[in-house]
Amino acid sequence: MNVHGKHYRTIWLDENNPRQLQIIDQRSLPHRFLIETLHSVDDVIGAIADMHVRGAGLIGTAGGFGVYLACLEAQRKSADLFIESVILDASRLAASRPTAVNLQWAVNRVLDSLKTFIGSPDDFIKTALDTAQAIADEDAEFCRRIGQHGKKLIEDISLKKNGQTVNVLTHCNAGWLAFVDFGTATAPIYAAFEQGIDIHVWVDETRPRNQGASLTAWELGQHGVPYTVVTDNAGGHLMQHGMVDMVITGTDRTTYTGDVANKIGTYLKALAAKDNDIPFYVALPSSTFDWTLRDGIREIPIEQRDGDEVRYIQGLHEGEIKTILLTPIDSRAANYAFDVTPARLISALITERGICSASAEGIFSLYPEKRR
Ligand code: MRU
Repeated sequence: MNVHGKHYRTIWLDENNPRQLQIIDQRSLPHRFLIETLHSVDDVIGAIADMHVRGAGLIGTAGGFGVYLACLEAQRKSADLFIESVILDASRLAASRPTAVNLQWAVNRVLDSLKTFIGSPDDFIKTALDTAQAIADEDAEFCRRIGQHGKKLIEDISLKKNGQTVNVLTHCNAGWLAFVDFGTATAPIYAAFEQGIDIHVWVDETRPRNQGASLTAWELGQHGVPYTVVTDNAGGHLMQHGMVDMVITGTDRTTYTGDVANKIGTYLKALAAKDNDIPFYVALPSSTFDWTLRDGIREIPIEQRDGDEVRYIQGLHEGEIKTILLTPIDSRAANYAFDVTPARLISALITERGICSASAEGIFSLYPEKRR
């Protein structure tokens, strides 16, 4: 995606030093566009846990590149500690955030590519890098395809409305900042916009970290897509008054039965959409399916983050990024980062292979090789 007219991915190998990574530090957006360099596995773990990078596809890709850095670091240790050290770092990377399954998936994919490897340590490291780079390229390409499939849903609504504005509501940020490029929920929006469809996006601010207000709003703006930020509680009202034609969200983990874990508050939007007969779509690449889980509410681990993310809020004041206290100083706060939307509330899933119902039958029809 373009930022100030220049194409960026959200993570890349430093072209001047391929032993380090570069990322867009998302904590400063939308006010500052800062590139951060990650030198070590600990840097990658910190960047994932503290959300310099966030979003399912991006933390997965960061985890994959993290295993490559782990191999570089292991090379400095004695030969008999090499594998042990890589495996230890891989498990620390995989544990740095618990809900998005893409992280464990990507870390395991790089480890698997190394399992049967026979060759020099340099070739071993190159295999880790090639696999991490393949994960990044695949993530971008799968998101592009999600855009092409999802665009048809927007096109249909536009035709039904005789070309009048299609109003899409989205929650959190499942845009290109949450992946390597294009995004999932936003990919159909960008594709429809590029085709000249009249489209407008309601952006949920998404407390506590405000990924909607700060990130989705910023990236839609960079792309020129008309949008309006609304408070998290406004969606039901908008739906009751015919101001939302469809909802598209992303997901951090989806069971093979179609239950979806996404940013906290997604479930309430799905309930409101159901009550108002508004289609509710979830867009995801296959790396977000957890093929081992059946019951999302009981089985998907929900991250609980520091209560200070609820008690404080960050914003720009007189040119400086400031953090201020919202609650009484001694207030306790609970910070559940995700919730689960049951499959029955989801109209369809938009994947890189096409659109299917949120059900085991629908999902396995697109991914027959995963059928058990
Ligand atoms: O906590 P985050 O910002 O990493 O959460 C991820 C999200 O942005 C959302 O849940 C998103 O809709 C799915 S990730 C593509």
